[in-house]
Amino acid sequence: MNQDQLKQMVGEAARDEVLKLPAGQILGVGTGSTANCFIDALAPHKDHFSGTVSSSNATTERLLKHGFKVLDPNDVNKLPAYVDGADEIDPAGHMIKGGGGALTREKIIASMANQFICICDSSKQVPILGNFALPVEVIPLAKGVVSRELEKMGGQVTLRPAKSIRTDLNQTPSEPFVTDNGGWILDVAGLKITDPINMEAQINQIAGVITVGLFAKEKANILLVSNASGVSRISL
Ligand code: A5P
Repeated sequence: MNQDQLKQMVGEAARDEVLKLPAGQILGVGTGSTANCFIDALAPHKDHFSGTVSSSNATTERLLKHGFKVLDPNDVNKLPAYVDGADEIDPAGHMIKGGGGALTREKIIASMANQFICICDSSKQVPILGNFALPVEVIPLAKGVVSRELEKMGGQVTLRPAKSIRTDLNQTPSEPFVTDNGGWILDVAGLKITDPINMEAQINQIAGVITVGLFAKEKANILLVSNASGVSRISL
């Protein structure tokens, strides 16, 4: 079974999980290739929800294409659940997220939800976070000062380059990746994250940081994880 099939399988399991929620509520929807599988699996059942709140422009586009209603987070008080992937997840449900660059809106929507349902294949499960470089979204003019602070913490910092040309921004691949919020992303390698709660708070304190892709306060409550033998559901 390849990774795409594992993502599809866990996307379908997440669909079944959210269809257990009472009808007529609003659902928070994440970003990334696994979240995309979830959106596609849920599309035939979209009327179970009165609307969605989206974590990125890419997700909004996909939801609208399927005919979901997408609401402004400012018009929504509470979400029963937020469904999203992760780049790494530890046994307590703390995650590294932001590989796709959507970490800020993901954290905002996650904070509005009663439960975070994390969906991934088993390659994302790790004993200690930090093998995947930690994404930190920053105000562009603070790149230097934030990088120096992260280096003091033992990290090796790389400014994320643009993946592809964004014609709307006249970007070339040699320029920095620009988030949906106009921020830049620093990818921080070499951190061994043994205390995610404290590290999240510490990085949040650095002036110029918009969001750190460490989801410790907004950790996962339910993990749906796929491997060749099926999908496991773990309460965290
Ligand atoms: C997007 O910014 C990320 O937080 C994604 O949720 C994470 O990178 C997982 O993406 P995949 O499902 O594509 O692995």
